[in-house]
Amino acid sequence: MSSSARKSPPPPCAIVIFGANGDLTRRLIVPALYNLSRTGLLPPRFSLIGVDHNDRSTDEWRGKIHEFLEEQVGNSGEGALKKVDDKLWSPIADAMSFLKGDFTRDETYADLKKRLAECDKAKDLGGNVLFYMATADRFFPVIAQKLGESGLVDMKECKGFRRLIVEKPFGHDLESAKSLNACLLKYLREDQIFRIDHFLGKETVQNIMALRFANGLFEPIWNRDRIDHVQITVAESIGVGTRGKFYEGTGALRDMVPNHLFQLVAMTAMEPPVSFDAEDVRAKKAEIFKAVHPLTLADVVRGQYDAGAVGADNVPAYRAEDRVAPDSTTETYVALRLTIDNWRWAGVPFYLRTGKRLKARSTEIAIRFKRAPHALFRDTPMGELDADWLIARIQPDEGIRLRFNAKRPGQAMALESVAMDFKYKDYFKQAPSVGYETLIYDCLTGDTTLFQRADQVESAWGVVEPILEGWADSNPRQFPNYAAGSEGPVAANDLLARDGRSWRAIR
Ligand SMILES: NC(=O)c1ccc[n+]([C@@H]2O[C@H](COP(=O)([O-])OP(=O)(O)OC[C@H]3O[C@@H](n4cnc5c(N)ncnc54)[C@H](OP(=O)(O)O)[C@@H]3O)[C@@H](O)[C@H]2O)c1
Repeated sequence: MSSSARKSPPPPCAIVIFGANGDLTRRLIVPALYNLSRTGLLPPRFSLIGVDHNDRSTDEWRGKIHEFLEEQVGNSGEGALKKVDDKLWSPIADAMSFLKGDFTRDETYADLKKRLAECDKAKDLGGNVLFYMATADRFFPVIAQKLGESGLVDMKECKGFRRLIVEKPFGHDLESAKSLNACLLKYLREDQIFRIDHFLGKETVQNIMALRFANGLFEPIWNRDRIDHVQITVAESIGVGTRGKFYEGTGALRDMVPNHLFQLVAMTAMEPPVSFDAEDVRAKKAEIFKAVHPLTLADVVRGQYDAGAVGADNVPAYRAEDRVAPDSTTETYVALRLTIDNWRWAGVPFYLRTGKRLKARSTEIAIRFKRAPHALFRDTPMGELDADWLIARIQPDEGIRLRFNAKRPGQAMALESVAMDFKYKDYFKQAPSVGYETLIYDCLTGDTTLFQRADQVESAWGVVEPILEGWADSNPRQFPNYAAGSEGPVAANDLLARDGRSWRAIR
């Protein structure tokens, strides 16, 4: 991860997007390039080649993308005119060219090779190419294979760098993740592969490392001696929307746990790396997944939302959503309890939960410290003394909050829990961001710190594998088991109650 305050533009290169007409390209990738243009971090010379089977001329592709960008900037509330700034857009527009082609056909890669050579000659790009697989995951193996067979990613043949971005989902279980890794590693070296988890592009997620390792205050108490437990919540208030078909084959566990939630666990639990070099950081994160104690079905609760009200809106049950089976057994909520078998964390449970149609949209890591060891304050019985919490809020209202006990004004020595708040927006002027800017910039500069390594992905799938297997053998009988707009199923409360603990309220 680039730690210097001032970043410099990446080297000249070509960026090839497979899936040029897709949702990800227009909603996130091109807006991220636009934001890099704003911060002066686009390569000084570059080509942007869009590959897709839908028939389009370069002018049509450019026009469509511009239309979407205009809509996004218009809705973002930035600037009086709320229009795309031509000065920022023109380097991207000038770099764009469309290539019609099917991902599964050899001709596409022959045409691409020709186009890359032309762009390189015209713009002197040093042979550098970043390939982006912005496609459905079923195309990942075939694109990697065709890139490999056509020599487009062969570092012995190519001058300059050749890198490949792989979108999520990276596999749907341990076996498929292993097979995708094997396919990628047949044609590319590990340092050419960038497995994206867009959570890691968020400033507040990266700030967890700053909080822990740039301050002398927290690390000495960041262990089983002082920490009682950790709660990690990724709550969404939205339902599946138009993604019913995708979600039916995925569910909350696969969609969120081995990737996003485990990344937050790794950031919270990893040992300090010897440096912020990619390999040092990734090695420390990988250790965490290897140390997770094997899960059993008793450690996990699944849920599915029923009809209910989120805020003032009445919303349907999951089973009544578009392209969802009326008797679906897909989970829209999962909570789990995991422990990490190492010296730092032995005996400290990590409780994780994520779900759709919950009471509010909220992502946070909450560290609960142990209580004061004895009751000194007679007017506040020990049971009523709140424990101290450190809460890293990732979205919305990004910031850090410390909750501790203070004396309530008055004659009696009565205590009350109060909070000290740090809010990002109060301190830093934040540039508009879609969250992909950092990740794309890091790919362009070859920094793999924020990307998952093959072993990390496989260990993470390995952790959830017993649950996937167990669930495959037993259909949930009580679905739906939580109302939309609630805090999730009752069984999730029991998971913590068993340990004498309770969830923080979702708000
Ligand atoms: N969209 C998001 O917000 C989002 C967020 C995070 C991650 N992702 C991940 O990003 C990836 C892309 O998602 P997406 O939503 O952008 O997908 P998408 O909208 O389906 O885009 C893929 C594009 O590739 C085209 N295509 C399909 N088959 C092709 C073929 N054989 N040859 C050439 N072109 C072909 C599609 O055309 P047709 O439309 O004709 O099929 C479409 O234009 C997925 O892995 C997804 O999980 C997406």
